[in-house]
Amino acid sequence: MAQGFETRQIHAGAVVDAQAGTRITPIYQSAGYVFDSFDDAEARFAGGGDRLVYSRHSNPTNAVVERRIADLEGGSGALLTGSGQAAIFSTLYSLASAGDHILATASLYEGTKQLFRNNLARQGLQFTFVDAEADDDEWARSFTPRTKAVYTETIPNPKNDVPDLERLARIAHAAGVPLVVDNTVATPYLNRPIEWGADIVIHSTSKWLAGHGSVIGGAVVDAGRFDWAAHPEKFPQLHAVPRPGVRSFVEVYGTRAFLPFALTVVNDYGPTVPPTSSFLLLAGIETLSLRLERHVANAQRVAEWLEAHPDVVSVDYPGLPSSPWHERAQRLLPKGSGSVLAFEPRGGRDAARTLLDSLRLVSQMTHIGDVRSLAIHTGSTIHGRLSEADRLALGITPGLIRLSVGLETVDDIIADLDQALRLAHA
Ligand SMILES: Cc1ncc(COP(=O)(O)O)c(C=O)c1O
Repeated sequence: MAQGFETRQIHAGAVVDAQAGTRITPIYQSAGYVFDSFDDAEARFAGGGDRLVYSRHSNPTNAVVERRIADLEGGSGALLTGSGQAAIFSTLYSLASAGDHILATASLYEGTKQLFRNNLARQGLQFTFVDAEADDDEWARSFTPRTKAVYTETIPNPKNDVPDLERLARIAHAAGVPLVVDNTVATPYLNRPIEWGADIVIHSTSKWLAGHGSVIGGAVVDAGRFDWAAHPEKFPQLHAVPRPGVRSFVEVYGTRAFLPFALTVVNDYGPTVPPTSSFLLLAGIETLSLRLERHVANAQRVAEWLEAHPDVVSVDYPGLPSSPWHERAQRLLPKGSGSVLAFEPRGGRDAARTLLDSLRLVSQMTHIGDVRSLAIHTGSTIHGRLSEADRLALGITPGLIRLSVGLETVDDIIADLDQALRLAHA
């Protein structure tokens, strides 16, 4: 019988340490690994088997976390990176080359959009942002012969405008490209995008997976089922034969070719995660379901309380029946709609300033998915580089506050918001 999520979040991918018999995964804080011989060194560099070479390439502590995240997401494998941003750029660098095009949904974490618009665009990648709700014709028109992926998020923050993953997977596959989904905010406990058609799943493990605000990290998971062999003209890097006698990634790995190729990208560019971070990440993952249950319960209570408050003009949270995304969230996120919500106090930016400066329990911070509740005025920070018109087009109204609801006693979170709202409207 297949094991349950709670069992797998504790055990999947772990091995009892052969030398000391430790039950938990030790930190292998080592840059490199001794080769048995000249021939062994040559064989390891040639990529035979699972033998280790150097920690920029792979590390035993990281490997356990990779197997665990792959298992929880239902993927064929995973690759850790030094941050969520590194997971995103490593994925896109693996799929696309200068002059290629990525089609992304318009509502995404603003840091991702900045990476796309500024630095990846500078390297020659082109991006088009399409409203996830646009009709099929608009989607079809947005592809170019050089489109290499469709990119989206399970729960985009701060607006929580949940896209229809199944539809986006159909659209991507009809165009012969993979669907890439950033599943950071849902985590595999609330949604597993591979079950809805995604081919590649990305995480900022800095958020709920690690969960305690102590780690920066990222992960890339491959479903292992995209038919790369059918598209040699789109993904020549996976079909390239470097010299006679060497087989291409597709020839060796078939539908699993993406991850070994992405490992060469991570190894060459070097955004590796330290094994100490992986150790903390692993401890976080072991309680993921428990934390998420409480995160979403607290977020639902706080969202309902804010919505009923006379000094709050809007609340974006798909767990609320008033949300336009409520019905879809019930289908895609039956265990809860995440724990980030956005709300706008009456009085716009000035009220938001007083409210945030009056919080005592909730911290003003740019982070989400922590056991601690965190809030930020996104218009002056995360979205601060955008024009007012661009902010409004994204629904970032002048007073909008993003709140990542933590695991404190929910009445204490509400009491803190209550006293801050009072001061903001005194
Ligand atoms: C949805 C999402 N993806 C990616 C990232 C980037 O992750 P990191 O901060 O680990 O680089 C973030 C960070 O806030 C995020 O919220």
